[in-house]
Amino acid sequence: MQLIDGKATALEIQKELRTAISQLRGRIPRLDVILVGSFTPSVIYVTNKTRACAEVGISSQIHRLPDDITQEELLQKIKALNNNPDVDGILVQFPLPRHIDPNLIMETIAPSKDVDGFNPINRGKLFLGDEDALVPCTPLGVRELLKRYNIATEGKNVTIIGRSNIVGKPLAILLMQPNENGNATVTVAHSKTPHLEKVCAQADILIAAIGQPLMIGPSMVKEGAVVIDVGMNAAGEAEEGKKRRVVGDVDFHAVKDKCSWITPVPGGVGPMTIAMLLSNTFKAYLKREIE
Ligand code: GUN
Repeated sequence: MQLIDGKATALEIQKELRTAISQLRGRIPRLDVILVGSFTPSVIYVTNKTRACAEVGISSQIHRLPDDITQEELLQKIKALNNNPDVDGILVQFPLPRHIDPNLIMETIAPSKDVDGFNPINRGKLFLGDEDALVPCTPLGVRELLKRYNIATEGKNVTIIGRSNIVGKPLAILLMQPNENGNATVTVAHSKTPHLEKVCAQADILIAAIGQPLMIGPSMVKEGAVVIDVGMNAAGEAEEGKKRRVVGDVDFHAVKDKCSWITPVPGGVGPMTIAMLLSNTFKAYLKREIE
């Protein structure tokens, strides 16, 4: 078993970005993050994202808005950022309060500033194989890890467990794309898939994005498979003053000896998501500068 070190890879990417950004003359890239309410994981994610921006020389602003903000007020806020020429990237942290329609929010963020790649225009372009589009960060991070570890996808059986719009679906599209980092035979399995164990055990590359702690055990992993764990689940009971431990969807210790390569949690896909957010922000900046 060899470990795929997402943290080290993310740091490598951040170093590359820092070098490129330090060579810019004039305006520097800027990311604006909207955080509605005070859901603890969202506060932590947003803090991590803006801290990473500072590390590579991207300026960032957090706009904290109250839980009871109206949908209309939030839309106005997004439109103001769309029209602000200093802003390159806009990210609205999810989940949002129930009275706000997330689809409407995603549609309102200007496609050129949509660093999450959630606007239907960017999703449509990804579907068509147009990589000028901004692509969702976690799928990009998974592909980048495979690329940087020279793990070929061409002709491989890839099984993705999970069909979310943020991870499973866009990742399936990326890995089936007719290019050197795609060309895989992709199966997307989910909670209604019969014989899930068998489907997983056929995979050369197994990608878990389900949100079920430690669900993937040794009977679901082929000997020599590559296992990528996108899960980030809080484990155990919350204890006063203590952070809850994070575990993946894969039972790492039970499956590791069957794998050729495996990502840990934490320190696998998570840091790559943030690195790809920085990379998308720089991409949006460069496109805006030349247009
Ligand atoms: N909440 C959980 N994951 C994400 C993400 O990738 N982007 C945003 N904006 N919110 C999230």
